[in-house]
Formats: sequence, C-alpha cells, structure tokens
Amino acid sequence: MRLEIPTNAERFGANTFYQVQKIYELEGGYGIDTEFDSPFHVIQQIPYDRLHEIEKDLAIIIPVKNERLRLLEGVLCGIPHACLPIVLSNSQNEPTDRFRMECSMVDTFCRHAKKKYLIAHQRSPEVARLFSDGGYLHLLDEDGLVRHGKAEGMLAGIALANLVGKKYVGFIDADNYFPGAVFEYVRIFSAGLSQSKSPYSMVRIQWHSKPKIVDAELFFAKWGRVTRITNQYLNLFLSQYTGYETEILRTGNAGEHALSMPLALALDYSTGFSVETHQFVSLMEKFGGVLPSPFPEIMKTGVEIFQIESRNPHLHEATKGQDHIREMIEYSLSVLWHSRICPALVQKDIARELRRLKIVRKNESPLQLRRYPELSTLNFSAAAAALDWSRHGNYTPA
Ligand code: GDP
Ligand code: CO
Repeated sequence: MRLEIPTNAERFGANTFYQVQKIYELEGGYGIDTEFDSPFHVIQQIPYDRLHEIEKDLAIIIPVKNERLRLLEGVLCGIPHACLPIVLSNSQNEPTDRFRMECSMVDTFCRHAKKKYLIAHQRSPEVARLFSDGGYLHLLDEDGLVRHGKAEGMLAGIALANLVGKKYVGFIDADNYFPGAVFEYVRIFSAGLSQSKSPYSMVRIQWHSKPKIVDAELFFAKWGRVTRITNQYLNLFLSQYTGYETEILRTGNAGEHALSMPLALALDYSTGFSVETHQFVSLMEKFGGVLPSPFPEIMKTGVEIFQIESRNPHLHEATKGQDHIREMIEYSLSVLWHSRICPALVQKDIARELRRLKIVRKNESPLQLRRYPELSTLNFSAAAAALDWSRHGNYTPA
C-alpha cells in the first residue's frame, strides 16, 4: 500500500490521535521501493511482505446476527488468506436454525478454499464457559450465557483470538455487499498497524462514501447523521482538554477497526452499538493522564490511533431504519456524557442535542449503558482448558 504519512496529530496524555490518512495505491509493490530512500516524502510505501507479516497474526472477527448468507460469504471471500476469520454469531436458532446454516456455509466455503476459520455462537454454553471458567462474569446474564449485543460478540471474539495466540484483532461487519471493500479494509488494518512504534495501537476506517439513491441517481454521501453528530461531540470533548478546537477525530462510529492485542485487552467496553464510540472514552479515561492510569507501562510507551480513509464506497444492508439511527446517536452521546472525565460544557451541549432530537426529555439523564472492564482480567489459561476447538471450525492452536 502507498499512503499518506500523517503529519498532524493531537496528543492527549499518552494517546496520539493521527489525522486521517489518504491512500494512494491499494497495492504498493513487493519489497522496498528505493524511490522512498530519501526522508523527504509525504507518502510512504508499505511493501506487501510487511503487510503479510501482520496478517499472519491478525484475526478478523465478524459479528453476525441474522444476515443474508450470501453477504457473509462475500465477506469471507474478501479476507486475505493469511488472516484467521472468527465468526461470532448471535443469529436465531428457531424457528429456522440460521446459525446451523451459517456453520454449514462457512465450513463448505473454507473447505473448498482450504482456509482456516473459527465459528461460535455467542449464546452457546461453550462460549459462556470460557468466561465463567476464566472468572470474567461481567458478560454473563441470568441464564449464565453471554449477553446479547454486538459489543458482547466482539468481546467473545477477542477472547478467542487471544486464546489462539493472535497478536492483532480486526472487526468487519457481516452485512457488507462488496468483497473488494472488505479486502481493502483488511489491507488498511495491516498497513495501519505496521506503522505503529508502540505495541498499543489501533486503526479505524473512515468510509470514503456511502452510495445512496437520491431522485433516481446515485449519490455518494460522505457523512451520515450519526457520524457527524458523534464526531462533533468527540472533538469538543478532546478540545476541552487540549485547549485547541479540533476536527481530527473522524471515526467515532467506525465499525471497521483493528487493535493490537495488548491494547484490545487493556480497554474497557460498552454494550451493544455504543462500543465504537466508547473506545475513545476508554482511551481518554485510561491513558489521557486525567485519571491515574491502571497501566503505567502503557502510559510510558504511548498509544497510537490511526485513521485511514478507504477508497471503496461502503455499501451495507440498509434496511435497518430510522429507529436504529436514533438509537446509535443516543448510545454514542450517552457514553460521552457518562464518562468520568466528560467536561461540564460537553455534558451541557450533549444534553441539549439529545433534547433537540427528542431522545431525552427535560431534566432526564442520558442512558447509563452497561460497561465491561478490561479483558486482561480474564484468566485465559483457565478458560482455555474448557474449550474443544474441533467444535468451532478447522483451526487448532499450536
Ligand atoms: P450498522 O451497520 O451500524 O447499521 O449495524 P448492523 O445492524 O449492520 O450491525 C453491525 C454488525 O453487527 C452486523 O454484521 C450485524 O449482523 C452484527 N450484529 C448486530 N447485533 C449483533 C449481536 O447481538 N451479536 C453479534 N455477534 N453480532 C451482531
Ligand atoms: Co450494517
């Protein structure tokens, strides 16, 4: 890949938030291009072999809930061979057993492609045991099963990826129409992660555009409503601490993102669809230097957050409606409002926005969403003992 070098960044404690980087070539060539020998460049080349090194250690977690099988198959097809896909499903078991259909499609597909994979149902007793044996009970409900929700599926995915020894995790939604876009996202993950000088890093994708039909014409919208609102308040939050107005954060709702495993295990998480925005809250709370950090080692080393703009348009299943959009806004703004370090001015502005959108009434507080502490508190060796890998695909850890 050939992509812009991020020259601008905002620092908040140990966090470095880089500006959005633009891609020049999706495929940047094999081996080092000597044209980049002199240090005066605005573009960098990340040769294919370097990307491959990361992808060998990268698990791609695909959260899925009742999506069309064809879409899920397209997503698998877009994932580079070296990566390990981990499908985390919360699809229905009855009246039709959609999860069984997913298992059978994924298995056939991967058998033909000779591709390694893992699959698990989020609500299965096996996945629940991983967390109960590992002593991480926060994720379990009254029935002793992992709770419903996208974040909950992602956490189960991270736990599995760590158990099989992966060093990086990336997330890609199952409802993507373009395998080519999925392929690009993974390449962006590996290119982004390869830039980091710290073992604690994150890459978030800013979609180039989302195609829509407006008056019978294709229109490439850049900013959705949710994204615009989330980023506005996220930047306001950051600027209250740095003292400088900023627009650097563009990926508050990025479902497509990747983390190094040590960072994935150190963050805490918020339930369901609030998970992506909350990652910023967690970064600012834990490594912003405002509160004492539970991880002095990370404070010393620093955390690098890259944002990269994809070139493919993003087209996903779009029938999920207005309620979903309102819910996303509510979730994103609520996690900002409830942060222990949310500045008073930001709280006031968010409350006004939520009232304006008729999401909360006067004198009502935004939703308090369930939070999960860092996964590093899970006892992984106790959890591993419970797992029979052969029931979850064709990949057995070494
Ligand atoms: P949007 O793209 O933000 O509008 O949200 P989607 O409804 O497309 O959800 C994003 C991804 O998460 C999709 O692949 C969903 O199938 C998946 N998903 C949604 N809810 C759950 C859940 O409870 N558990 C799991 N494992 N996946 C979920
Ligand atoms: Co979607």
